[in-house]
Amino acid sequence: MKATAVHVGLIGCGTVGTGVARILLTEKRALREQLGLPLELVRIADLNTRPRKGVPTTPGLLTKSADAVLNDPHIEIVVELVGGLTFAKEVILRAMRSGKHVVTANKALLAAAGPELHAVAQEHNVDLFYEASVAGGIPIIKSLREGFVANRLHAVLGIVNGTCNYILTRMTQDGLEFRAAVREAQRKGYAEANPALDIDGLDARHKLGILASLAFDQWVPQEAIYVEGIRRITKLDIQCAGELGYVVKFLAIARAGERGIELRVHPTLLPQHSMFEGVRDAYNAIEVRGTPIGTTMFYGMGAGMNATSSAVVADIVDIARNVQHPLQKRRPPFMFGAEKQRLLPMANVCTKYFLRCTTLDRPGVIAAISRELGARNIGLTSVILHETARGAYSTILFMTHQAREADVQNALQAIDALPVIKAKTAMLRVETETN
Ligand code: HSE
Repeated sequence: MKATAVHVGLIGCGTVGTGVARILLTEKRALREQLGLPLELVRIADLNTRPRKGVPTTPGLLTKSADAVLNDPHIEIVVELVGGLTFAKEVILRAMRSGKHVVTANKALLAAAGPELHAVAQEHNVDLFYEASVAGGIPIIKSLREGFVANRLHAVLGIVNGTCNYILTRMTQDGLEFRAAVREAQRKGYAEANPALDIDGLDARHKLGILASLAFDQWVPQEAIYVEGIRRITKLDIQCAGELGYVVKFLAIARAGERGIELRVHPTLLPQHSMFEGVRDAYNAIEVRGTPIGTTMFYGMGAGMNATSSAVVADIVDIARNVQHPLQKRRPPFMFGAEKQRLLPMANVCTKYFLRCTTLDRPGVIAAISRELGARNIGLTSVILHETARGAYSTILFMTHQAREADVQNALQAIDALPVIKAKTAMLRVETETN
């Protein structure tokens, strides 16, 4: 039977939910014109049932009961914006098992249980869409699922955590130390009171897992992704990187090579002329490289009410079109990819490295450090020795050629054990066009 309206139920009405409800209710006419039939938000379930600013409320719209959404036979699309793992998963599974399509922004849940959720969606012939889970307003999921379908993708990399990008931007532009920059991010509402999920890289790891699974058409589990957050970055690291012509950005990198797919999230040195250098404050940017398309780049706000609700509504409309004119159900991505590529352990990743050593001001120090590097086949492209005041420690900066991560870790242990080294050596990986 042809649908005469598509009914939506929203579970979880915080900042993003409020944005979604506002668009669905205030842009009803425009959405109807686009779709050719009404898109009705019929229920919003949240423990807080007070009317939301800018959301025209009708009696019965707001309810405390998620069951009122999940058990409503008229609702075709459930939007899960509860967050967290347990209740959100229950909501999504119950919705799909009763034949409802689901839209979610829940990256942590998708990263943890993607194959299970997609298998249930497949079994019950429903859509599970999650554009808002990565990089908010940037339509990167749809691009990977559909726009790049003619390509063999080589790499997806980018700035996918706005909070870390904001912190590093303040450190770079205003010379703030890490803690002061975090406080500034909290004051502006970018960082949570407990910012660990962002600054320790877990949020970026969730997002990279989703992006890499789509790009390489195979499931990428979180454990396969190396992660290192930005807590240890100092103002001095950023200044020294600048001296060598680099900026420090927090990158998520998935790259397929002959030896397998490398997957890593860490602070990274990029040349000052890199496009990512201009991605500042809380903005996100993602680069996708493939054949035949070459290199493409996406830029936009990765979080916040407007960007995220735009992505959620795009998914709702996309599903509503499916409800209206049923397509043969889309094959869930990464469930049936042909041959799987090997996921490369971090120890075998090869890249370039920046080292900042703090040493005694003695003859032979550079020779001693380069001996440890050379012994492990790590070649140097530049060395800078800062002029040192009498009696002070020296700062020596090294840039390496491509080297293997395990060799560099091994060399760092040996270097830090040298009697002339006076503080733990700072190491940052470097990304250039030739990586
Ligand atoms: N906390 C995330 C960020 C936004 O800072 O990018 C939600 O994914």
